[in-house]
Amino acid sequence: MIMDSDHLKEAGKQAMRAARKINRLRSLGIVTAGAAVLVAGITAYKKQDSLYRTFVMPAVRLLPAETSHQLALLACKYRVYPRSQYEDNANLQTKFFGRMLKNPIGIAAGFDKNAEAVDGLQDMGFGFVEVGTVTPAAQEGNPKPRVFRLVEDRAIINRYGFNSEGHQAVLQRLRLLRSKEDFNGVVGVNLGRNKETMSPMADYVQGVRVFGPVADYLVINVSSPNTKGLRDMQTKSKLTELLEHVNEARTRLERNKNVPILLKLSPDLSLSDMKDIVSVINRKKSRVDGLIVTNTTVSRDNINASNKTAKEVGGLSGEPLRARSTEMIAQMYVLTDGKIPIIGVGGVASGYDAYEKIEAGASYVQVYTALVYEGPGLVDQIKAELSSLITSLGHANVQDVVGTNAKFYLPKK
Ligand SMILES: Cc1cc2nc3c(=O)[nH]c(=O)nc-3n(C[C@H](O)[C@H](O)[C@H](O)COP(=O)(O)O)c2cc1C
Repeated sequence: MIMDSDHLKEAGKQAMRAARKINRLRSLGIVTAGAAVLVAGITAYKKQDSLYRTFVMPAVRLLPAETSHQLALLACKYRVYPRSQYEDNANLQTKFFGRMLKNPIGIAAGFDKNAEAVDGLQDMGFGFVEVGTVTPAAQEGNPKPRVFRLVEDRAIINRYGFNSEGHQAVLQRLRLLRSKEDFNGVVGVNLGRNKETMSPMADYVQGVRVFGPVADYLVINVSSPNTKGLRDMQTKSKLTELLEHVNEARTRLERNKNVPILLKLSPDLSLSDMKDIVSVINRKKSRVDGLIVTNTTVSRDNINASNKTAKEVGGLSGEPLRARSTEMIAQMYVLTDGKIPIIGVGGVASGYDAYEKIEAGASYVQVYTALVYEGPGLVDQIKAELSSLITSLGHANVQDVVGTNAKFYLPKK
């Protein structure tokens, strides 16, 4: 049995490596803007995922990264993308804080910061959508340019710095969404603080008050590297105080009093930082219901040495983050005895990558950067691959895989 599973895993790994190579070659193809427009028109007729991947995505990459992001958001909002062709297999169904998800794959925070395209993202096949980061007052974020592609590394560096339309604008959109009879999606709201604020803690508390009643879960984001001092809130004393305030604010909610609160962590934490965090979240007064592992990294390990863009300041995401994120999922899973659900995120670009995160200890998986390179068809691809891996490795359901191989991903001593 162990041999069988090892062989299957090795075969899966080889298939994934080959797929990545092909995609890299494709992205080097020269695509004219005219062809791009033509193909974009054709893809509006849906069901054209291969054209999308081969032509549209490389063409979109000729535009500045932030412009592409805005276009992608519009495409999601107005559903100008190939329709999802994959009917979620029953083995992907999973419980999510008292709700049921059709599949455990979500869109990570930062793609739809202002909740403009939630139902479009759900129709693309995501099992859940996280919007934000949202700050109390609207703010511009850092000056442009502030997003950079590292194509060869399948990575992105961003220093958006929490550009946000602010609580009220996002709240109005979420209320409208909830008022639609046909909307039954799972939506999380990722909370941040303003750059200029009298009290960072009060910003998060306000986030709980404003979004508690309309969110399926809330995320305390103290791990983005682009707001000065933000990550210091992960230290033991500050985190304890913050989470106590946040928990207290939740008890005072009139509606949705049990809205789950998740904490999003940085991949740059040391083992001793992680142990401190676990001691904080194990206390009743400062507990959290789940963890999101991980945000972007300030490390530049695993990047092509010749890549000059790597020098840009900001958080790195995508393939170079993948292994560290999986390692940290395993570390947090072991440190919390598997008792706190984890959303695993960082460099997922295939069903195999998602499976790794889940066997390391994640109950759910989010995606962002790979979507930028592969396009919307990636969601179906990840789900189909994940579903067949679950079956071929002898499991009945994705929930049975969670943490089954956590020790394998722990750092080697
Ligand atoms: C352009 C960009 C903007 C992001 N903005 C946010 C954000 O506002 N809040 C947040 O918690 N994470 C943000 N992230 C981090 C992602 O949610 C995710 O944790 C990280 O990118 C790792 O996943 P990936 O490798 O699949 O992209 C952002 C990532 C990118 C690439």
